[in-house]
Amino acid sequence: MSLVRVLVVAGCAWLHAQAWAAGPAAPPHTAPDTLAQRVMACTGCHGPEGRATNDGFYPRIAGKPEGYLYHQLLNFRDGRRQAAGMRFLLDPLSDAYLRDIARHFAGLGLLALGGLVLAFVVS
Ligand code: HEC
Repeated sequence: MSLVRVLVVAGCAWLHAQAWAAGPAAPPHTAPDTLAQRVMACTGCHGPEGRATNDGFYPRIAGKPEGYLYHQLLNFRDGRRQAAGMRFLLDPLSDAYLRDIARHFAGLGLLALGGLVLAFVVS
């Protein structure tokens, strides 16, 4: 074996060892695991943050009372109310999780409502 070959083999071994020492490759970029992220499937129809879109078809869900939203979600999941595309999303979800989703969307309206009240009080 020539000296060049020995050096090439040794160099490759050294590079390999460096890569091994660096540990596994960084994990692929993942989305943050928040409720806001999980309900992105809802906002495709109900608009950003559930605030509806201009098409006037899909109802706004942001800022509606938590209890109302929760019971509508139960109704859709359990087949008492129908909307194409919603039941299969809600079907596997527990009552507690639907309550969390309802609370999430109910809370999104508070800022806008607070702004309106403030504007009314100030004017
Ligand atoms: C494929 C479109 C679509 C998706 C996705 C969707 N919805 Fe809906 N949603 C609708 C439609 C259409 C209605 C209105 C149904 C009706 O008229 O009874 C509705 C109604 C609702 C209502 C009742 C609103 C009211 O004022 O009575 C709630 C609450 C709701 N959706 C929550 C959700 C949540 C939470 C998700 C995500 C898990 C979701 N939706 C995903 C289409 C969708």
